[in-house]
Parts: sequence; structure tokens; C-alpha cells
Amino acid sequence: MARTPIIAGNWKMNKSPDEAVAFVSELAPKIAAYDAVDRVVAPTFVALTAVASALADSPIKVAAQDAHWESDGAYTSQVSVAMVAPFVEYVIIGHSECRAYLNESDENVNRKARAILAAGLKPIIAVGESLAQNEAGETVPFVRSQVEAALAGIAPEGLKRVVIAYEPIWAIGTGKSASGELADAIIKAAVRDTVGSLYGREIAETLRIQYGGSVKPGNMEEYMAQPNIDGALVGGASLEVEDFAALVDIASGVKGY
Ligand code: PGA
Repeated sequence: MARTPIIAGNWKMNKSPDEAVAFVSELAPKIAAYDAVDRVVAPTFVALTAVASALADSPIKVAAQDAHWESDGAYTSQVSVAMVAPFVEYVIIGHSECRAYLNESDENVNRKARAILAAGLKPIIAVGESLAQNEAGETVPFVRSQVEAALAGIAPEGLKRVVIAYEPIWAIGTGKSASGELADAIIKAAVRDTVGSLYGREIAETLRIQYGGSVKPGNMEEYMAQPNIDGALVGGASLEVEDFAALVDIASGVKGY
């Protein structure tokens, strides 16, 4: 079955609220017509409301880069799923930078995924192996364990709103990227087949899986042409209007049914 491709720009700690609004004001008209592709931007928390207002009449959706599973309470520095819910459709969780710098655990990724689904939103769950794990041949079992942990307790109904982003850590922001074929093989073995064994083949075929890690207009077609890749989670290239628009155009050309 055809899965709607999804291109999400993860801006990380970039763009002030004013810069973010100026950016989407320029980007939105360029990609407004590509309805066969889901287009998402993920600003910082402080820019979320301004970007959501700027995109209120646009088909481009907003994502938060994280959210806490509790609705409120004594969690200094955190922002809850309930707080971002009025402004976003998606929440990115489990990003390798959060896992590495903020001690994000598989258990917390699962808590967040369940809270995001309970709020009616869509989690983009990032998984991926380190260079050392990759070189040791541990990629598939490791990524499989991240997927299983993230999805624990999630019902098939919830899975319909889940997006999984496979991002080899060694490819993020480095200019190195996995070949399309290699990424597809890992995604199939570690993500789609894992979801297949948990939920059944039919449901696994509906799951949208992104590749991430140094995705650029120059390599986008190679990824989108793969049978198991349904889009991209993009850092660096999503910070440039022309590059972002080119990624959407390429995704639409390859898989915009
Ligand atoms: P990159 O980042 O495209 O800059 O490699 C991807 C990501 O971290 O999601």
C-alpha cells in the first residue's frame, strides 16, 4: 500500500522565533502545493507558538523536538505534551542528541510515545546505532531493541500514528551517509520486520519510516527510491529554504502518489 511520504525539518537549537517565522513565511508558498507529501518543521520550544500561528492557514505541520510525558509538575526545564499539543501535530522523541547529551533512555522514549499518542498527536521516534556498534556488526539487534522498547504497550490503533526515523548516529551532521540500499536493508530488518513481528505484517506495511543523517537534495532521490524509506528527518539541509523545498520536490517526484 502507498504510504504518504513525510519530510520533517529538525531545526535543533537553531533559529530564533523571528528567524523561524521569516523562514516559514518564505518556505510555505514554495512547498504549499505538494499535498502528496507531509511537510513538517520542528522549531525550538520558544518558537513553536509563533511558527504555529504563521502556518495556521498552511498545509505545513509543526513538530516539537521533545515533550515530557507528565502533564505538569516539578520538572524544571521540561515542557509537557499537553503544553505543546495546541501547536503541533508531531513530536520528535528519542533523537540521538537527546540520548547522548540528555540521558534520554528507551524507557522515557516509551513514556513519551504513549503520552503523545494519548494526546492525539504523532510521535516521530528516532533510533539508530553508533559508529562503534555499526563497526561491531551490532546495528540490527541494537536498533531492533530500541524499536521494541519505544513501542512497548502501544496498541495497533496507536501505531497508525507512529513514524520511526532511522538515523545512524555516525551519519548525523557529518556529511557521511549510509547508502540508500544499506539504509533500506537496515530499516527493513531492524524496523519494519520488528514491527511486523510485534503487530503483524499488514500493519507493518502501513508504518512510515524515515531515513535521517546528512540527507541533502543530492542524495534524497537515492533514499526515496528505496522500498522501505518513506521520507526523511533532516537537520542541516532543513535550515535552508531552497534545500528544504528541493527535498520536498524530490520526495514528491519519487513517491508522491
Ligand atoms: P543532519 O541531521 O541532517 O544534519 O545530519 C539529521 C538529524 O539529526 O535529524
